[in-house]
Amino acid sequence: MKEPAVCVTEKQHSLTSSHIPLLYRMRLAETMKKTLGIGGIGYLNLLKCEQAARLAGVSCRQLSSNGHPKMPPCSFQPEKYESLPYERIVDIRQNNVSPALKTYYQKPLLLHQGHMQWVFDSEGHRYLDLFAGIVTVSVGHCHPKVTEAARKQMDRLWHTTNIYLHSPIHEYAEKLTSRLPGKLKVLYVTNSGSEANDMALHMARLHTGNFDLVGLRTGYHGASPYTLGMTAFAAYKGGVANGFGCYSTMCPDVFRGIWGGSHCRDSPVQTIRKCSCPLGCCEAKDKYIEQFKETLNTCTSKKIAAFIAEPIQGVGGAVQYPKGFLKEAYELVREKGGLCIADEVQTGFGRTGSHYWGFETHDVIPDIVTMAKGIGNGFPMAAVVTTPEIANSYAQALHFNTFGGNPVACAVGSAVLDVIEEEGLQNNCKVVGTYLLQKLEKLRDSFEIVGDVRGKGLMVGIEMVKDKKTLQPLPSDQMNLIWEDCREMGLLLGKGGLYNQTFRVKPPMCITKEDVDFAVDVLQVALTKHMERSST
Ligand SMILES: Cc1ncc(COP(=O)(O)O)c(C=O)c1O
Repeated sequence: MKEPAVCVTEKQHSLTSSHIPLLYRMRLAETMKKTLGIGGIGYLNLLKCEQAARLAGVSCRQLSSNGHPKMPPCSFQPEKYESLPYERIVDIRQNNVSPALKTYYQKPLLLHQGHMQWVFDSEGHRYLDLFAGIVTVSVGHCHPKVTEAARKQMDRLWHTTNIYLHSPIHEYAEKLTSRLPGKLKVLYVTNSGSEANDMALHMARLHTGNFDLVGLRTGYHGASPYTLGMTAFAAYKGGVANGFGCYSTMCPDVFRGIWGGSHCRDSPVQTIRKCSCPLGCCEAKDKYIEQFKETLNTCTSKKIAAFIAEPIQGVGGAVQYPKGFLKEAYELVREKGGLCIADEVQTGFGRTGSHYWGFETHDVIPDIVTMAKGIGNGFPMAAVVTTPEIANSYAQALHFNTFGGNPVACAVGSAVLDVIEEEGLQNNCKVVGTYLLQKLEKLRDSFEIVGDVRGKGLMVGIEMVKDKKTLQPLPSDQMNLIWEDCREMGLLLGKGGLYNQTFRVKPPMCITKEDVDFAVDVLQVALTKHMERSST
């Protein structure tokens, strides 16, 4: 174990030893005795705690009076919860709301209010929301500027369809397409990511006159009958036939996949795998491209309609491909007459930090881009952007969508674009995301069960394993205990990956380094607790 920390409780100023490995505990006690003349770990003033920790070579972490890492302050005061009682809600959930989606946590959280990166439950507990309603709250819960834009538009005109002209969709179309490169200039607004991907796939078939669609395994593109064919997780498919003409090829996962090394990905943190590639080469990329070719040559027809991929897989657990993979894959797809679709539902709007769109990090320009989630900061809206040529082909069929392009949605979307720019949120993703990844890398090096830390900006995954030798996924029951402990300490994390083995960290893009310090402290305590549990 490296970099252990002593914990200083808020009220008592005592050094608590429970999270310090034995070796450091001994070193700390010895140092305190020798240098400060104090015998053992006991009550001290804060200064002495810090001094002792420094002398013993461990960092000093502040804990609150309940022994949990101390949350950064927040001046927002939630209203008192006065709605349905908790038990009644659980009862309604069990009897009257879809059983197809399980609630998170053993005791499901009843969330009541949100403010920027924070959410509050019905009892007034505050949580740092590192999952953002599944990567959806992009600029912060109830961001005042976005709320105000919605309110203003609601006072003016809630709804009219696109058979009339109205200003918000046109303002939005101009603003959004100005943020896209090349010929990506024609906008369609839809209501959800599945609907956007449905449209993109249909568009590709109409434009090319070809039928076959290719995606990557562990890619998630939605749960509508059309997109289900491209969503490569059996769990979502049920027992119903789906995806005629849909093929999924090997996911070039450089950590869990067959090939991968320590230079493959575009991330501040690389895998723990060895790499012997000469500079400028990536054998893993070449091998995965061979697999891609094999799929094209064996499964699909001579010509294909489209290839769809997320720049970084979301539900798949922040899986990143080797550098150059997507660029070569796009070339192969175009040779087969297909269009390239970038599913930016999770990666768009600056989340990856270095670029506004995830596809830019791969140095490619898609033919169609789909967006949802963060586009509306939680407002139900989504979009497809394509080129005028493809849009003209799509116009062969009449297309109508009652709510797509709704004035309120477009006003919200415009405000989100403004806030990202005004508040420098893309840069925040880069700076705070890199800081987070570097801190998580240290956790990975300290704990045998943290197999991989990866991502870019604030699109981060922590893949948990039984051990670093076998890389077998950490069993769900163990994942869940760590995850529950984090929640108990006020930290909400997502989960993903084929085996639900990856913690997903995709917070509102406004989080701070202080929030990261808190989150990493919580994880460290939860992981240490797990090790203690496992050793008994
Ligand atoms: C990458 C990606 N594409 C598409 C979708 C589908 O979006 P929606 O749930 O809004 O239909 C999701 C949802 O999680 C997603 O993560």
